[in-house]
Amino acid sequence: MDRDEILHYLKTSNRNGDLFQKADETRKKHCGDKVHLRGIIEFSNHCCRNCLYCGLRRDNKKIKRYRMPPQEIVALALKIARKGVKTIVLQSGDDFWYKRKTIASIITNIKKQTDAAITLSLGERPLDHYRNWRDAGADRYLMRHETANPNLYEMLHPGKSLIERLSLLSALKDMGYQIGAGNIVGIPGQDLKDLAEDIWLIKELDSDMAGIGPFIPQKDTPLSNCPPGDLELTLRALALIRITSKNIHLPATTAVATLDRKEGLLMALKAGANVIMPDFTPQRYSQKYQIYDNKQNITLDMAKAVIFKAKRETGKDKGDSLKCRHYKRHPEA
Ligand code: 5AD
Repeated sequence: MDRDEILHYLKTSNRNGDLFQKADETRKKHCGDKVHLRGIIEFSNHCCRNCLYCGLRRDNKKIKRYRMPPQEIVALALKIARKGVKTIVLQSGDDFWYKRKTIASIITNIKKQTDAAITLSLGERPLDHYRNWRDAGADRYLMRHETANPNLYEMLHPGKSLIERLSLLSALKDMGYQIGAGNIVGIPGQDLKDLAEDIWLIKELDSDMAGIGPFIPQKDTPLSNCPPGDLELTLRALALIRITSKNIHLPATTAVATLDRKEGLLMALKAGANVIMPDFTPQRYSQKYQIYDNKQNITLDMAKAVIFKAKRETGKDKGDSLKCRHYKRHPEA
């Protein structure tokens, strides 16, 4: 499928059935029936960036900020692994209070006590931080490209550029991280051509994972009055990524679950998704991690129930990348 075809399918809503079926077949052929679980810890909502869409943005004075102490993060990670979830995702705003060494020691401590994979999602940092964390045992890095349109990127992310973002992603890949890109569907200012570029870029990057979710307004941001992204369009984008990028890991994201609390996750699993990311952040913290309004809390039980409903299996191993450069490194993947 080339860019024009992707665009054509993005525009065509009357053939959703065909598209989702093709995506589901591709998922089955290239990824199998396992749905991998990734346990998220949102350990800090402090952020030095000012992204227009995000409730954690620096200029949001309404949000109550928190930081989890390193020992609490480690203890929670071990608890998640004991529940059989073999990937721990450490996520936060871009928060430099946690120094390079602090994060490295969190990673070392978790790795000493469990064989779970560690995914970092800590935003933009100097390359020596990334290298150090990789040496400490981090396996994966999630950093969405957010939008493939460079002008829109600059409008949404004051002082930042898409080139910078992409060069960090490629540096992470060179360090041996499994990388996760991804974008927001229906972010104000985006058109369908931009969205087709997002799908194309994910393929070109040969990303191991891609997180795709609809835009959802957050009341204390400059985009508070903009309409949310369209769920159906998000599912079409998901299906098209599955069809074009084949063996990529694709989560049924929290934003999809937020737009349709009853059916969102199930619909995503049927449109090509093969990962769910339950949130283990203690509620006293997670209620403050409002990147957008009314964020759904995906629990482990909820994830297992929807996997059962979709007639799929819960992955019991780490669910490493299915891309061959990692397959060589992790023959068990
Ligand atoms: N709507 C949808 N997604 C958002 N994110 C941040 N704010 C929003 C929003 N208002 C996404 C970004 C970020 C991820 C953690 O959450 O893509 O990378």
